[in-house]
Amino acid sequence: MDDVIKEVLISEDEIHKRIKELGNEITNDYKGKDLVVIGILKGAVIFMSELVKNIDLPITMDFMSVSSYGKSSISTGEVRIIKDLDFSVEGKDLLIVEDIIDTGLTLNYLSELLEKRGANRVRICTLLDKPERRTVGVRVDYLGFEVPDEFVVGYGLDYAELYRNFPFIGSLKEEVYMNK
Ligand code: IMP
Ligand code: MG
Repeated sequence: MDDVIKEVLISEDEIHKRIKELGNEITNDYKGKDLVVIGILKGAVIFMSELVKNIDLPITMDFMSVSSYGKSSISTGEVRIIKDLDFSVEGKDLLIVEDIIDTGLTLNYLSELLEKRGANRVRICTLLDKPERRTVGVRVDYLGFEVPDEFVVGYGLDYAELYRNFPFIGSLKEEVYMNK
């Protein structure tokens, strides 16, 4: 851990405290509604696991896995669906749970897609936001923390599929991605 992490930006305690607050907010906002919590694999898994334990409502859960189409189509922001939802979203209230919003392209595309499929309302909950990097507008309804424009890992976020299991959010040492 010490060999790859430059600085711990957000500790596990701070993350858990913030997730409790988000869970309370979501519980209040969705009283009496049928809420489907949709996790974006794999980055959102650890955040979502902790979040749903703090939502005191009869929710259901579903998952989607997406990847952006290479550099050539980055401006269109189109994403490829690797694994689609198991259930129909028609008429449902959806909460998309993501690890981090960077350019905004992934969530911009996904929320429009789910609205087109007839969802009643689509809201976004993200653990982290890097607002400096945004290229398309995304309305973030629930936010854990803002982070500076640095590559961060841990609490579900990876570099080359590694470090998702770190219990905190930390910035990656430059030499980790320079040596690759
Ligand atoms: P975007 O908002 O469409 O640009 O992409 C967001 C996705 O990029 C996230 O779901 C992450 O998978 C990935 N990502 C962006 N910044 C970071 C980072 O600092 N660490 C790890 N993954 C990141
Ligand atoms: Mg991701």
